[in-house]
Amino acid sequence: MPARARPDVPGDAAARVDELRREIEHHSRLYYREDNPEISDAEFDELMRELVELETRHPALVTSESPTQRPGTGATAAFSPVQHLAPMLSLDNAFSLDDLLAWGKRIERQIPGTIAFVCEPKMDGLAISLLYENGRFRRAATRGDGFVGEDVTANVRTIRNVPDRLRGRNVPSVLEVRGEVFMPVQSFEDLNRRQGEAGERLFANPRNAAAGSLRQNDPTITAGRNLDLVTYQLGAREGGRRLRTHDETLAYLRELGLPVNDLISRLESLDEVYEFCETMLARRHDLPYEIDGVVVKVDDLAQREELGSTSKAPRWAIAYKFPPEEKTTLLRNIMVSIGRTGRATPFAQLEPVFVGGSTVGLATLHNEDEVARKDVREGDTVIVRKAGDVIPEVVGPVLAKRPKGAKPWKFPKKCPVCGSDLVRLEGEADRHCVNFDCPAQRVQRIVHFASRGALDIEGLGEERVRQFVDAGLLEDAGDIYDLTVDRLVPLERIGPRSAQLLVDAIERSKQQPLWRVIVGLGIRHVGPTAAVALARELGSLEAIEHASEEEITAVEGVGGVIAQSVKRFFGVAPNRRVVDKLKRAGVNLTGPAREEHEERDTTLAGLTFVLTGGLEGFTREDAEAAITSRGGKVTSSVSKKTSYVVVGESPGSKLAKAEQLGTTILDEDGFRRLLEEGPASE
Ligand code: IVH
Repeated sequence: MPARARPDVPGDAAARVDELRREIEHHSRLYYREDNPEISDAEFDELMRELVELETRHPALVTSESPTQRPGTGATAAFSPVQHLAPMLSLDNAFSLDDLLAWGKRIERQIPGTIAFVCEPKMDGLAISLLYENGRFRRAATRGDGFVGEDVTANVRTIRNVPDRLRGRNVPSVLEVRGEVFMPVQSFEDLNRRQGEAGERLFANPRNAAAGSLRQNDPTITAGRNLDLVTYQLGAREGGRRLRTHDETLAYLRELGLPVNDLISRLESLDEVYEFCETMLARRHDLPYEIDGVVVKVDDLAQREELGSTSKAPRWAIAYKFPPEEKTTLLRNIMVSIGRTGRATPFAQLEPVFVGGSTVGLATLHNEDEVARKDVREGDTVIVRKAGDVIPEVVGPVLAKRPKGAKPWKFPKKCPVCGSDLVRLEGEADRHCVNFDCPAQRVQRIVHFASRGALDIEGLGEERVRQFVDAGLLEDAGDIYDLTVDRLVPLERIGPRSAQLLVDAIERSKQQPLWRVIVGLGIRHVGPTAAVALARELGSLEAIEHASEEEITAVEGVGGVIAQSVKRFFGVAPNRRVVDKLKRAGVNLTGPAREEHEERDTTLAGLTFVLTGGLEGFTREDAEAAITSRGGKVTSSVSKKTSYVVVGESPGSKLAKAEQLGTTILDEDGFRRLLEEGPASE
């Protein structure tokens, strides 16, 4: 971000104001006309805020040309211009709840009597104006510069919930209604998947996708994009019902058959407004569409008159903007990490940036093709996104800020840890380090074996494992059972007491059920569900090791891919060595026999679960294990067959889907109760 002007030097202020206006014009053009923004919305807001601040301090610098005095950007040539009957104003922003309250209190001082507010989710889409004449849909236009927009009638006609005819007895002869065209999150994800498969460019977010879809020359393309409409404001009107409040207006719009958001609430005090905003902020990712704030409007239309508007925005409404989930930062390096299977995953080392509620310094780049597709380069300024429980993501580079000479990133040919080749097999997205003995893989394999989802050995995390591997105490997971207090105590940072605790935990792990050992071995494609099935049907590790591919495939819930992978695993000598060490150490390698198991716990048999969001008392693996060990199944997406959706902190769009389908939703307590008491008591 460029340096701020010094407020006491008007020369500087004037220069800075010019610069800001140029930047804002530039970014507005990219955002509104090309649907291809270079900076995040939050940064755009920041530029605007600085300009407003300077103009407020130096009113002489304000001109009617300033972007602060005009609601939007001009229409483009591709679509015919449309003159709005009533201007389409924009909204002033409040960037914190304090700002919002300050606005509310100012209004309360200005207007005698009590004020009621209407709070509306701020839809993250495109403003649209629809014109109905004698109840017939005539025209749809984008906002443009607030006075003249673009004619997108043919495209808007394809949106499912745009009525062609208004309903009811009180249809006005002319009705201009304002709303938002947006793309639901699910449609956005589907669209990007299709775009990716077709080798087309991906959209950065649902808003850009909606904009791109609305501004198509061919309406059949728009029709395939699953756009949606909500309406939230009247423009010009002739005839129809007499309206005194906004609340009545929205009810009227509904009556006419226009879509209105159900979450909109009329509230009697600023305290309630505050609460509404906090709730929306907490729930934003539960919704099937994206919102970037809450619009707060004065309900009483006479009070609105009294408050009036500036040339740009009404004084009777404000947009409370949520803290941004996208920011730009410097991508310092692209590095590669090696997992337990040898998979080499590229990740971005970022200049740490506070976004989406936490500081992000690292972000995965998934694989080679993903880096190429995004074309992010070392030294780039990149857009970083962290939304809800989703892991931080690099959305893409800001091309305008790319340093000269920045080179496309090349995947290293050698493993950064052991120097062996990183090989990419045909048909696979990932490269792998070919060296089974690679120390990085070894550490990760052992960490996985001891993790909560597997043998659950408390006190044996990544740092300890690395230390023990470096000290020559561990070569593979089997060596864990040779650790003794005497061998541990000489190491740094380990006292006799913590050594004893660790050895006790290791001893206890010998009694873990077989399926946990199977998970711990880290056989490709074998997660807790398959491990439980294998343990149940085949009964011992020995039997699994010697079973034929056909016998393994015959196990219910186990397919050919898993069977092959199991056979391959036991074909590798170092893997068999680990199994031998476990045997010798007396680790439990026999499962409950089938009948026994069924007698013991099948409380969740026949039930299908979907997990979304973070649970406090369970890792994802633990939760899955708790379900599968009781005979239940875990799947990744919600469908009609889903019995329960378990919802934790910051759930994803799965919750919305579950609500839509009416699936039973469990919070963490409900989930715990179900595990303890079974479904009958639900
Ligand atoms: S009212 C004069 N209500 O936010 C009032 N706008 O930042 C005009 N928006 O241009 C807008 N949800 O595109 C209003 N419930 C809502 C909204 C909403 C989203 C957008 C709209 C507007 C922009 C202003």
